[in-house]
Amino acid sequence: MAIRLKKSYRFAFRTALFISVILTLLFWLVMRFYNLNNWVLLVILTSSSFLISFFIVQQRIERFIYRRIKRIYDDVSLLESSSLTSRTITTDMSTLTAEIEKFAQDKKIEIDTLRIREEYRKDFLGNVSHELKTPLFTVQGYLETLLDGAIDDKNVRKKYLQRANKAVDRLIYIVKDLDLITKLEAGDMNLTWEEFDIIELIKNVFELLEMKAVKQKISLTFDMDYVEPIFVRGDREKIRQVISNLLVNSIKYGYENGTTEVSVENLIQNKVIVRVTDNGEGIPEQHIPRLFERFYRVDKSGNRKEGGSGLGLAIVKHIIEAHEERIYVESVVGVGSEFSFTLEKA
Ligand SMILES: Nc1ncnc2c1ncn2[C@@H]1O[C@H](COP(=O)(O)OP(=O)(O)O)[C@@H](O)[C@H]1O
Ligand SMILES: [Mg+2]
Repeated sequence: MAIRLKKSYRFAFRTALFISVILTLLFWLVMRFYNLNNWVLLVILTSSSFLISFFIVQQRIERFIYRRIKRIYDDVSLLESSSLTSRTITTDMSTLTAEIEKFAQDKKIEIDTLRIREEYRKDFLGNVSHELKTPLFTVQGYLETLLDGAIDDKNVRKKYLQRANKAVDRLIYIVKDLDLITKLEAGDMNLTWEEFDIIELIKNVFELLEMKAVKQKISLTFDMDYVEPIFVRGDREKIRQVISNLLVNSIKYGYENGTTEVSVENLIQNKVIVRVTDNGEGIPEQHIPRLFERFYRVDKSGNRKEGGSGLGLAIVKHIIEAHEERIYVESVVGVGSEFSFTLEKA
């Protein structure tokens, strides 16, 4: 690696000055001792002692110190060729120290970032395996029971197979969510922008979730009759996912005979706000700030309601943020929750 060393003469200059002053003093004392009074000789002796010591000191510095500094530069540059070599290198100690300190600081930041990412990754893997374990063990349990003889029992065999099938459904559901969130977090969410009628889309999702809602005795409605279409701009399929996730939650965490109401209102000139309001169990205030984190759940115990993946709201947030829109949540325990997000009008 070609490194240009900028020379510094200050140290040699000062040292030579120091030496020559002392030597001059010495010469002068000696001359006085022998009663010589030759000022020309003294000047010659002084200047030559200065020059000789200057060159010797400078030589030694270049030989040893400069070489070592250069090696430090080389070593450090080996690690990160871009951060140091691009600039002029100096042998001035304070600059070098400052540069090394800056280098160490940068490295520390880099290491910290990597450490955080590593923790995040471990966390993610831990959560994934935890989420997959439960349904997998369920499937395994039923299959083993069937193999152990339950298969001959006409009364239970269908029931067990159905339960195993349900657990497989849940596995697939979790894997799909994982797949989606991984894509979203990798940042390669390509939005397909189009203009569409949000009312029609919501009706669509209502129909898809009707069975689920009827089973939980929850009715899905609009707050009023929307006769006119309301056109918005966004990625239709992704917004469908958002509405679906919010509605599924309102069904899952709603009370029996409850209602989920959706409204679409004008917000400001070019925005609409879509609200999904339920009168379900609500969310304790201390959980609200973390609600959109992936795998975050209010009820962490095993006996929670028919489980999701804990990814639903994380996915919702990612999609809304990719649209550069906002999502809000308000909730009161025992009264209900309202999730709302903005969209651009077409
Ligand atoms: N409408 C709602 N009413 C009450 N709690 C909710 C509602 N929506 C979400 N939550 C809470 O937020 C948590 C995270 O939701 P989500 O990310 O969709 O995960 P999941 O539904 O898979 O548990 C849920 O576990 C639930 O505790
Ligand atoms: Mg959910």
